[in-house]
Amino acid sequence: MTSLIISETELTLFQKFIEKECGITISSDKAYLLETRLSRLAIENACNNFTDLYKISQSDPSIKNKIIEAMTTNETLWFRDQWPYEILKEVIFPELLQKVKSGEKRQIRFWSAACSSGQEPYSISLVAHELARLGKGKELTTGALSITATDLSKSILFIAKAGRYDGLSISRGMPEELRDRYFKQDGRVYVLDEAVRQVVQFQQLNLMNPFTELGRFDVIMLRNVAIYFSAEFKKELFKKVAQCLNPDGYLFIGASESLIGYSDDFDRLEACGGAYYKLKRSR
Ligand SMILES: C[S@@+](CC[C@H](N)C(=O)[O-])C[C@H]1O[C@@H](n2cnc3c(N)ncnc32)[C@H](O)[C@@H]1O
Repeated sequence: MTSLIISETELTLFQKFIEKECGITISSDKAYLLETRLSRLAIENACNNFTDLYKISQSDPSIKNKIIEAMTTNETLWFRDQWPYEILKEVIFPELLQKVKSGEKRQIRFWSAACSSGQEPYSISLVAHELARLGKGKELTTGALSITATDLSKSILFIAKAGRYDGLSISRGMPEELRDRYFKQDGRVYVLDEAVRQVVQFQQLNLMNPFTELGRFDVIMLRNVAIYFSAEFKKELFKKVAQCLNPDGYLFIGASESLIGYSDDFDRLEACGGAYYKLKRSR
């Protein structure tokens, strides 16, 4: 398909617009991303150039949404980087389960804050189901665990909620043993077990908006999303995230991400070959 060429003025217009709507910054050397991801939308809507596309997006919310969705990167996989899930299994779930068993805590609350097509929250649920199956936390499958999963993109949430994955998605990180135990095949589609899906509640949320109404969490996964945001927005976001954690709550960020220069609210801990963060007691 022919691709429209974006001018300098149009690039600035779109950079500002996209950052304002969803926090994603597009550096000038990534102008090609706008051209490759938005040309089809422009042409389908009879736009001769990016200025026309911008103009219609300002009066048509569905076009605005399509632009934002096209500019998000939904790359994800099962048990991404493995160590976060090892840490959950070996350190965090045992600690939180202890609190449930002693009556100190009624529910363990997770938030997967940019959940994409669901692999992240479902991987958490699978770790919990495996612990319960092995007799190390039956509470996790009898009401003590709740996972809130949010994303900006409505279309990716639609895929996530369905819990249906093709062979390629399954081949990316899902161990065969778990695939055979927790998925049923429907033709070429793998359908995730209802019990694993049930503990996950999906909802649309733009991280630029306030999110205190989600309540407080014990563990927040904010992985591979802040990399797209400006330094200023990262600072603000990590501050809001810290306010959403229970005392002693944990935060996971992506393998290539860091809190240095963005937040002083957390202590960095290491286990199972990876790093995770614990909310400081005195902040
Ligand atoms: C690369 S995926 C990361 C998925 C998962 N956390 C992981 O690490 O595999 C980034 C996700 O962030 C979402 N996203 C981007 N900007 C967002 C925003 N402002 N609010 C909420 N989600 C956003 C995208 O829609 C996308 O699904």
